[in-house]
Amino acid sequence: MKNYRAELTGVFGDPVDDNPTGVVEEAAFQAKGLNYRYLTIRVLPEDLETAMASVRVFGMKGINLTMPHKIKVLGFLDELSEAASIIGAVNTVIHRDGKLYGENTDGKGFVTALKKEGMSLEGKHVTMLGAGGAARAICVECALNGAGQITVINRNAERGKELATLLNERTNCRAEYLAWEKETKIPEDTEILINGTSAGFSPNVNDRPDIDYASVGEKMCVCDVVFHPVETVFLREAAERGAKTVTGLGMLVQQAALNFTLWTGMEAPVDVMEEALRKEFE
Ligand SMILES: NC(=O)c1ccc[n+]([C@@H]2O[C@H](COP(=O)([O-])OP(=O)(O)OC[C@H]3O[C@@H](n4cnc5c(N)ncnc54)[C@H](OP(=O)(O)O)[C@@H]3O)[C@@H](O)[C@H]2O)c1
Repeated sequence: MKNYRAELTGVFGDPVDDNPTGVVEEAAFQAKGLNYRYLTIRVLPEDLETAMASVRVFGMKGINLTMPHKIKVLGFLDELSEAASIIGAVNTVIHRDGKLYGENTDGKGFVTALKKEGMSLEGKHVTMLGAGGAARAICVECALNGAGQITVINRNAERGKELATLLNERTNCRAEYLAWEKETKIPEDTEILINGTSAGFSPNVNDRPDIDYASVGEKMCVCDVVFHPVETVFLREAAERGAKTVTGLGMLVQQAALNFTLWTGMEAPVDVMEEALRKEFE
């Protein structure tokens, strides 16, 4: 018998029109010959409950959540992963056996990209610039993957302290907050330095986090969450000081790859997905 019914996945957000994830996931579905679709759907905040009910009604394989739904969606799910429960936010929902399972792949994508570069987190001192959604997810995942110490540096002290407290209370990793002063110095024993802020994101491509770049050491691994442009001023400055650098593109690709696997049960064609994204950002 012919099957004209496609398996559905997608993203709910508002605004959502400029979310590039569909390009990556659709490229992967095609490469694997899967009759799956990824729909980019605008869902207003007050309609999220109905939208999540439709995931069940339409028998969708799952859905991504982006702004402003990542926290509110927790109220409409059956189960949460450990990371999603600590972070308190979900960006990926898997619909399996009639249940909606919440996961957060932001941090997992980062950790996978880091490991792909041959970096381990075990016992490492991580310094995070920023304490927003991406920074929070990455810090929790670093802690769950054995980081020994995390220093959070953020402009907004309340948000920065809250993240350090969360890590101390909910994980085995030691964490502290450092105030972000003008040209903040990076702690000397930092092994992994991460820009978790949006500084440098297109179109503000000449922006960079306001740190003392002379304090970035050649032994540090320096990572950016900003993926557009791929080569940021922050990473260029770090590379000029001899540091190893990891771009935000790897995190984005690995996250999308994880989503693909969670929804299809198949290994993701990571190279195809990365190529699709690079082409999109050209
Ligand atoms: N590569 C990936 O896969 C991936 C995944 C998710 C997000 N991202 C990127 O990560 C970035 C952050 O996203 P988010 O969801 O975490 O945003 P968010 O929740 O709005 O948080 C933004 C953070 O950036 C800080 N910030 C913004 N501009 C800054 C500046 N000029 N100097 C210092 N700090 C600044 C904010 O500090 P205050 O708290 O002091 O305001 C806050 O900590 C975005 O560019 C997003 O595109 C990348």
